[in-house]
Amino acid sequence: GRTVVAIDGPAGSGKSSVSRAAARQLGFDYQDSGAAYRALAWFVLERGIDLDDEAAVVAALADFDYGIGIDPDAYFVRVGDVDVEAAIREPRISAVVSRIARMLPVRAYLVELFRHVISSSERPGIITEGRDITTVVSPDAPVRILLTASEEARMARRSAEISGQSAQEVAKHLSSRDAQDSRVVDFMNAADGVTTIDSTDLDFDQTIQAVVGLVRR
Ligand code: CDP
Repeated sequence: GRTVVAIDGPAGSGKSSVSRAAARQLGFDYQDSGAAYRALAWFVLERGIDLDDEAAVVAALADFDYGIGIDPDAYFVRVGDVDVEAAIREPRISAVVSRIARMLPVRAYLVELFRHVISSSERPGIITEGRDITTVVSPDAPVRILLTASEEARMARRSAEISGQSAQEVAKHLSSRDAQDSRVVDFMNAADGVTTIDSTDLDFDQTIQAVVGLVRR
């Protein structure tokens, strides 16, 4: 049957790029769960909804027409017919996404959406990546991985990805987002049965091979 692979980790651990490349090598689908939280934050801002008004954010879910491409070679993120992939990576979204991600009804809604996507995959397997995939979304997945890296390595990787922000600014924003997110889900410690891959001293390809090796084992 289909192989479900769950990967969690903090920002800058490389989990998105590694998960996508590993999925490509394995012929699997790839689901970026963080994209849904980001797309919802984008949608809520677009509508002018107060990000701290939980009832209004939850009500907006009824009109949230989210679309994600799970083929790793045809990845897209859409809200309605707007391609939001670039917009959801902007610092203005990173700065606010944790505020909606801590709302439990939002999480419950998106967890169901992620499970639905996993069960609708038609490839031999699917890698889903995020913060609570190994613990909440797919705790029964046969392959569960926590992808970590030292704080220094994570900050350096993320600041290389982002232009227009100093390394110090990136580090400050990332630490504050990790701190907020950690209050909701523990993605810094591996849950029972979850294998840790520490990518601090691994290059991109070595990290992909570590993931692929665990899936093929
Ligand atoms: O790539 P990065 O690690 O910076 O973030 P992301 O995976 O795009 O996730 C963006 C935000 O969505 C996180 O900061 C969390 O607030 C939230 N998130 C979550 O709560 N649960 C998940 N499974 C995935 C993301």
